[in-house]
Amino acid sequence: MSADKGFSEPSMFKPTILLYIFLCLQSIYVDAACSCEPVIIPAKVDVLVPKDPTEPFAGLESNVSDLRHVDETYNIFGSFCQPGTGKREDVIQLLVAGLTYTNQYWSPAIEEFQNYSYVSFACKRGLSSFAIDSLGVGLSSRPTNASDVQFPTSAGTISKVARHLRTSSILPGVKPFSKVIGVGHSLGSVLLTFGAIVEGAQFPFDGLLLTGDLSAPPSQTPVPSDSVVFPARDVEPLRWSGLDPAYVTTNNRSIFYPADPNSFSPRMMIFDAFTKDVATIATFDQQAINSLTVPKYRGPVAKVVGGADQFLCAAGRCLDVEALRNSQSVMWPAAKSFDVVVQRGSGHDLNLDFFATAAFRTFSSFVERFAGLK
Ligand SMILES: *[C@@H]1O[C@H](CO)[C@@H](O)[C@H](O)[C@H]1NC(C)=O
Ligand SMILES: *[C@@H]1O[C@H](CO)[C@@H](O)[C@H](O)[C@H]1NC(C)=O
Ligand SMILES: *[C@@H]1O[C@H](CO)[C@@H](O)[C@H](O)[C@H]1NC(C)=O
Ligand SMILES: *[C@@H]1O[C@H](CO)[C@@H](O)[C@H](O)[C@H]1NC(C)=O
Repeated sequence: MSADKGFSEPSMFKPTILLYIFLCLQSIYVDAACSCEPVIIPAKVDVLVPKDPTEPFAGLESNVSDLRHVDETYNIFGSFCQPGTGKREDVIQLLVAGLTYTNQYWSPAIEEFQNYSYVSFACKRGLSSFAIDSLGVGLSSRPTNASDVQFPTSAGTISKVARHLRTSSILPGVKPFSKVIGVGHSLGSVLLTFGAIVEGAQFPFDGLLLTGDLSAPPSQTPVPSDSVVFPARDVEPLRWSGLDPAYVTTNNRSIFYPADPNSFSPRMMIFDAFTKDVATIATFDQQAINSLTVPKYRGPVAKVVGGADQFLCAAGRCLDVEALRNSQSVMWPAAKSFDVVVQRGSGHDLNLDFFATAAFRTFSSFVERFAGLK
């Protein structure tokens, strides 16, 4: 495993751009439609994790002797954005990004990319958002030992944040929300799925919108982590030289975009490379839980995938949407409703290519339905 020396990021400019992005994130970002503020929520978890962090089912199928306790309070960072006018007071979306992405997946902090912001799109429809950095990622706590960042800890913090949104005021003057909709992308969707398996009917979400995600048939061979992700300290020594080598990142983001280069902006790929973050080998491997059923979650569920997703929709898997819906819905037997939408043209990162606006329309209409707004 080695970093890709041929990757041509213009590294001279990187510190400046990172600084700019950092400043954008820190400042209170206000536009006509949305006002955003950074918020940190302490999330206490007391969970069992596999002693072996590469255990693919995250402890769900392990013997107790193969598990250990993690009892910690972590800080979860997020960007809270609410509409300037026409706000639906009761409703909030908790947005959870995918592997090696941060809250910026939902709202790139660059003026030029504002039309790729699902957060802004949602604000214009009266919907507030809290887009978080997952445990170990971005500005959230990053445990020194990567083996503490596993599905039970990471999903546990997400559940705690959702409960906080329901019971506490996120900011002075903002009332607790009675409807919390979970919106995930890729790994974020799988973390929400894990929470729904573990907590069932108690899972504190009024609906789950799982984007860039399909349940895997149990027979499917998992993708080995060392073909996709590499120790972050080798890939980007300037940023991550001190990290536990089990914190990993990618060295090529093309798989996240449609194969057709006319489907996305090459500038977005540059932005994506500049703002990429880390994940752990455990959270990569434990995505295998996506082959398990979710027996007890009772809210409405929808999956939205890009028709041009180079791995989820490879080999014509997404052409027959009805067959796809049937094979996916059996995994969620107790769900109040279950839908699958294949967004024509979109890649794995539905938010970051030229088809984003169409995807955002689909997302927001599910959120409105799940929240009982239509
Ligand atoms: C990234 O992967 C794609 C597809 O595998 C390949 O065509 C491209 O050359 C790679 N890019 C870099 C910068 O290595
Ligand atoms: C659990 O323990 C039993 C008895 O020792 C053993 O047969 C089984 O394979 C173990 N299961 C796992 C998942 O390790
Ligand atoms: C990380 O934590 C695990 C579990 O407590 C332990 O076995 C391992 O030695 C730790 N690794 C380091 C580098 O401290
Ligand atoms: C965003 O705006 C740019 C330039 O104005 C345009 O090229 C691009 O297609 C737009 N993207 C989306 C997702 O609408």
